[in-house]
Amino acid sequence: MLYNRDILSINDLTVEDIENIFRLTDFLKTEEGKAHKPLLGKSVALYFEKPSTRTRVSFEVGVFQLGGQAIYLDNKSLQISRGETLADTARVLSRYVNCIVARTLKDETVRELAKYADIPVINALTNREHPCQALGDIYTIKEKLGSYRGIKFSYIGDGNNVANSLLLITSKLGINFSIASPVGYEIKDDVKDTAIKYAKESGAVVEFHNNPELAVKDADIIYTDVWVSMGDEAEEEKRNRDFQNFRVDSRLLKLAKPTVKVMHCLPAIRGKEITDEVMDGPNSIIFDQAENRLHVQKAILSLILG
Ligand code: CP
Ligand code: NVA
Repeated sequence: MLYNRDILSINDLTVEDIENIFRLTDFLKTEEGKAHKPLLGKSVALYFEKPSTRTRVSFEVGVFQLGGQAIYLDNKSLQISRGETLADTARVLSRYVNCIVARTLKDETVRELAKYADIPVINALTNREHPCQALGDIYTIKEKLGSYRGIKFSYIGDGNNVANSLLLITSKLGINFSIASPVGYEIKDDVKDTAIKYAKESGAVVEFHNNPELAVKDADIIYTDVWVSMGDEAEEEKRNRDFQNFRVDSRLLKLAKPTVKVMHCLPAIRGKEITDEVMDGPNSIIFDQAENRLHVQKAILSLILG
């Protein structure tokens, strides 16, 4: 049961929770599901400290479609910008709205919000995780391939927030995960250790490489993300140099299964981590993946608030 719970990390979800989210998403995508309004009379605050296109719009539209009201709150226009504490902000929002969806620079901030709020808090991206993205992504794989257990998922690039959530969800669900990151940009040991524990339980194989060609061998999915995440802008030049050999292009795709599907959480910097040819090519499922953020988040909100 997800009712009234926070989702701050993939670690907060059991396999059963994830399967329930996917089952409800299937229903919400049907004609009958489109009439489902479990958020009638409910309000959801979107507290954002960083830019967003997909997450903001898909949550705002999702809440509307479920019958509720979304209120976008940019931290710069709240009293928090003039010294009000995050704890007091969380306490006050809890008196007005039914849920907080938060995109924060630091993971500790979303945890602090959850600590002081009396209402559920959903992580909409921090420097450490992006759980809603990972849920939408695995749902998309299930939709495209029919199932996900036992497939090979290859991630090329930075061991960042998106990579962390993907490693945790794949190892939990029995999906084989293989990542290639440049030296110095690998997934951190604490996340790796948790994933290795999940993989022991699920039977997933997890592999960590520094060579993209090794990581994509016979892959069912190739996934990539930007070389420079929000907050890493000061390192842009160095990162652009260090990630030169971590571009998803048609040459790399040839090493995977012929049926390989290409995914990207977006926004993409075309010509850097992914070529136009791959992004717009026949293997790309990137825009269906973006659409599914809406449907999966509607399922999450329905289960937490419904
Ligand atoms: N993928 C994703 O979260 O995109 P936005 O930053 O546009 O929300
Ligand atoms: N890793 C990227 C994901 C954007 C959705 C970032 O944090 O900027």
